[in-house]
Amino acid sequence: AAAAAATGGVVGWMYTTGDIDAAGEVEFTNRLAIPPLDIGRRDSSGRRVFHLRAAKGEHRLRPGRPTETWGLNAPYLGPTLRAARGDTVAVNLYNDLPETTSLHWHGMHLPARMDGGPHQGVDPGRTWSPTWTIDQPAATLWYHPHPHEQTARHVYRGMAGMFILDDDDDGAVRDAARGALPNRYGVDDIPVIVQDKRLDGDNQLDTSAHRMSGVGILGDLICVNGTTGPYHRVTTERIRLRLLNASNARFYRFGFADDRPFALVGTDGGLLPAPHETRRIQLSPAERAEIVVTLKPGERAVLRSFPPDLDLNLWDRRFNGGDDTLDILQLRAASRLAPSPKLPQRLAEASALATTSTKVDRTFELSSFSINGKSMNMRRIDFTAPRDTTEVWEVTAIDAVPHNFHVHDVQFQVLSVGGKPPSPELGGWKDTVHTPPGVPIRLALRFRDHSDPGFPYMYHCHVLYHEDQGLMGQFVVVAPGQKPGRIGSGSSHH
Ligand code: C2O
Ligand code: CU
Repeated sequence: AAAAAATGGVVGWMYTTGDIDAAGEVEFTNRLAIPPLDIGRRDSSGRRVFHLRAAKGEHRLRPGRPTETWGLNAPYLGPTLRAARGDTVAVNLYNDLPETTSLHWHGMHLPARMDGGPHQGVDPGRTWSPTWTIDQPAATLWYHPHPHEQTARHVYRGMAGMFILDDDDDGAVRDAARGALPNRYGVDDIPVIVQDKRLDGDNQLDTSAHRMSGVGILGDLICVNGTTGPYHRVTTERIRLRLLNASNARFYRFGFADDRPFALVGTDGGLLPAPHETRRIQLSPAERAEIVVTLKPGERAVLRSFPPDLDLNLWDRRFNGGDDTLDILQLRAASRLAPSPKLPQRLAEASALATTSTKVDRTFELSSFSINGKSMNMRRIDFTAPRDTTEVWEVTAIDAVPHNFHVHDVQFQVLSVGGKPPSPELGGWKDTVHTPPGVPIRLALRFRDHSDPGFPYMYHCHVLYHEDQGLMGQFVVVAPGQKPGRIGSGSSHH
């Protein structure tokens, strides 16, 4: 990371391919691909400029015929973009695909017209150039397409990547005396983009299970950063894994096969106030967790997904033979490990959107496929949120299907889950939260800076099939006294 930061530019993808056992037994024969780190290049006005090209490609997920995929600057997935708080970033997204797509900056606080949602479609052969200034803490965000009713297919084909934010004000993380988090990208700070795929006999992405499963695609082939059966060579005592559930529908409950504890240090919107030692972390689609694991020289540790705490995983059982235990990634420690700094005991300020109010400002009932009985309508603004006001939202899934809840533009704070205080893994900033059936989740949110009555932000279930089927709504942020405007033109092109 440091070398790339000095020179700018991109370090290339690395792939090797080996065997995947037909029965699904993971052999860990493939070296984990690390998405190239792209820190952009400074233009004359000091903006950090990124270039992304969305195009078709071919990618080997299994021996035999390569799989037809989509990617950004690569056949599958895209580079890890990285910027710091205070940077003004500019992206030029060129759409070389045969259909309209978009690119949404998941977790990012930014003006709605830069958000890359369904109103910012980019037609084939066009370039979209959003720009915004980063103003939020260090975090692991990501990007993915968000075209109206087509998000599941575009993401499944491979359009996604990580967006890492740094924050120089994070004194606790940089002070060597108090410890530090591993932060050398690709060495001891590793992106772990977890997805499940279903391939047909010809090794092509099989999307036929969409409608029948109730949640859309559930695959039986796990890949990390596009690598199936992956292993990663560890050369330091501690390693930080940035876990991203970039799957369309699958929930993962990550832990290690030998049940070793690890430190949870960050969630969707940034670092936790302090490391939290645990043995499991469950991520619903789009959620992130940063964990730090300690290894001994020469040992191997397998990151595994255990059966999620869902109660209602019957869709998964029906389609995957009842076994939700999936091996994800093998860590192979070298026989000598470089020392790592100890973990800081304080990581970030607590996310206190201090609200003593027990008044609920808005309620949301999620079901398949509507929110409060209404399914997504591109021409309807569902509500208007005033800027600079802390609101309390109560979200409840009212059917027995796995759902979660994601809000654009903000990181929120979970106030309660079923009336009880949230567990430590929900103690930091979040932009996506699992909503178990019948359990009301209360959130505190505060919109700031960007009021634009003509451009909506989205809120939705991140099970992408549900989102596409209408489990989504849109709101505008307004200044005090401002009225919602006419929805801005469908596409913004240059
Ligand atoms: Cu990650 Cu509206 O999306
Ligand atoms: Cu859902």
